[in-house]
Amino acid sequence: MGIQFEAIKPEIGARVTGVDLTKPLTREQAAQIEAAMDRYAMLVFHKQYVSDEQQKSFTVNFGPIENARGGNITKPEDKRLADGLNDVSNLGKDGKPLAKDSRQHLFNIGNMLWHSDSSFRAIPAKYSILSARVVNPVGGNTEFASMRAAYEALDAKTKAEIDDLICEHSLMYSRGALGFLDYTEQEKQMFKPVRQRLVRAHPSTGAKSLFLSSHAGGILGMTMPEARILLRDLTEHATQPQFVYVHKWQPGDLVMWDNQQTMHRVRRYDESQPRDMRRTTVAGSAMTIEQAA
Ligand code: OGA
Ligand code: MN
Repeated sequence: MGIQFEAIKPEIGARVTGVDLTKPLTREQAAQIEAAMDRYAMLVFHKQYVSDEQQKSFTVNFGPIENARGGNITKPEDKRLADGLNDVSNLGKDGKPLAKDSRQHLFNIGNMLWHSDSSFRAIPAKYSILSARVVNPVGGNTEFASMRAAYEALDAKTKAEIDDLICEHSLMYSRGALGFLDYTEQEKQMFKPVRQRLVRAHPSTGAKSLFLSSHAGGILGMTMPEARILLRDLTEHATQPQFVYVHKWQPGDLVMWDNQQTMHRVRRYDESQPRDMRRTTVAGSAMTIEQAA
């Protein structure tokens, strides 16, 4: 039997069966998965016990792996995982949960705000692929919201108002919203804001979606309070339950999402217990500000 996709809800998500991600994909399987990503925006695979290398091999079916530089504050000597993997666990290099007051831990709390991966990069990410190696006993669900369904549901007046707006995104805005405000000069350089369209067209389907993210902290031509309240209102609209799928993790789950038409966030969990989640990221190919509205 071939690969099968079963929709989770009309707005977002599908479960995938009939494929083993520890083995190389055929070109046809990769094309089927890519087409399903366009349609469902996020896919859930169960019982995929991939190694780091197998996860990377699966990832490159969809494009080159994104360069992780400038995406976190972890010093190279403190990294737990090899290049090409984003560590979104709560673990240090010693394999133990990070100290509650460690800077790395505090920075990672930013993943609990709704965001689209790498929206703080001039060319934001295409897909993210997250593999659950150790699941935390309490909480830690990941939620996914369809920015395409959220855009479609806006009234015509709001669509016209926001269609051409350009936002500024930076990791300092998302972390700043949580009171994480101290950066070295080098980090400030690294986290310089980039510009993104607020409404983007999907590179393969052309469908419009809201490009929201907690990294968005300003809108060109607007005062800060005006921009922030508009972004907050749109985010509140876009993350209503009808646009959201909540994923409860089991070990061996592999979830992939299209950052070009979704936002996600992880919910709080027991930080004293391990949660080992490893992400690979497919690089995007174009700046959103180069798109016509
Ligand atoms: C990510 C992320 C959520 C999670 O990997 O990009 O936001 O569930 N992770 O850890
Ligand atoms: Mn993320």
